[in-house]
Amino acid sequence: MKNYNIAVIGGDGTGPEVVREAVKVLDAASRKFDLKLNYTSYDLGGARYLRTQEPMPDSVVQELRQFPAILLGAIGHPEVKPGILEKGILLRLRFELEQYINLRPVKLYDQRFCPLKDKTPEDIDFVVVRENNEGLYTGSGGFVFKGTPHEIALQESVNTRRGVERCLRFAFELAGRRRSGQPWSGLKPEDLKAGKKAQLTLSGKTNVLTYAFDLWERAFHEIGAKDFPAVKRAYAHVDATTMWFVKNPEWFDVIVTDNMFGDIITDLGAMLQGGMGIAAGGNINPNGASMFEPIGGSAPKYTGLGVINPLAAICAGQMMLAFLGEHRAAQSIETAVIKVTREKIKSLAAGKMGFTTSQVGDLVAAAL
Ligand code: IPM
Ligand code: MN
Repeated sequence: MKNYNIAVIGGDGTGPEVVREAVKVLDAASRKFDLKLNYTSYDLGGARYLRTQEPMPDSVVQELRQFPAILLGAIGHPEVKPGILEKGILLRLRFELEQYINLRPVKLYDQRFCPLKDKTPEDIDFVVVRENNEGLYTGSGGFVFKGTPHEIALQESVNTRRGVERCLRFAFELAGRRRSGQPWSGLKPEDLKAGKKAQLTLSGKTNVLTYAFDLWERAFHEIGAKDFPAVKRAYAHVDATTMWFVKNPEWFDVIVTDNMFGDIITDLGAMLQGGMGIAAGGNINPNGASMFEPIGGSAPKYTGLGVINPLAAICAGQMMLAFLGEHRAAQSIETAVIKVTREKIKSLAAGKMGFTTSQVGDLVAAAL
């Protein structure tokens, strides 16, 4: 029997409620596929910060490093100033555990839940690979003349060749293996003739960010041409990317982008797949402790009511199993989520599902 040690951070707001359902489904899948997940819970988040004035002790970072995977609910508390918990917990873990990829699949499970007219699950099935350790998120910058009329605020975008390259390589590799060798349906006959199997779109802003995205674009074409000839390379400015998400989401297979743009476009992506109730992501260190989370947030106004949708957290659990190499168990969770989404759930929105949070967990566990 395969054994995995999993760290669990319920966190703030509805985080603990949705993580409980994810664990319920993971345990059901483990029984079926003969796995054993050993959970260790960590008390992190706003409540602990308000008690101790410390977002996260150094010792906890060291402990979390030892786990192959971490399941996270949500970070963000209405009584704590924005930035403290985000930087002190979420971003700190992303950075210090070198989770340099933020992987966010955008997949529509049921046409009823797509806000776009006439788009079907065939049209909305792509993955965003968001760089997760650099860009505008490093905290580099500062104030000059703070509080005076001459105040200057600088926030610097950090792009290293090493950071960009490892992100691009991950994205190319993912594009190459995503459909296990089957060509992506959006390729043209001439692409197929040229031996292309997948498409990777770099989403950037080469027309304005002429340093940062110059580096991204050069590295993209160098690495792609040399090492990934079967992946067709495409480019879209980030503003146009948002337009095409709405107009032609079927144009995307895998997208790679920097941290800030990735943050923004994946909220839009989440809406295409039916909203925050279903959108999951993974903070990946391909060689270390990786952290999986529903991308929604702590949703304070729904806390404790049993109305929040746990499917995003359940899908985060599915991504975690896939990362651990348990592909059959992961696949069975996805199949169960699709079935429950298509056959049972009335809406993916909090309070409108037709079921409570825990009933949705039960439905998925029973559908495995
Ligand atoms: C996300 C969130 C975080 C981010 C916040 C909470 C710091 O929006 O995971 O997308 O900006 O990365
Ligand atoms: Mn975000």
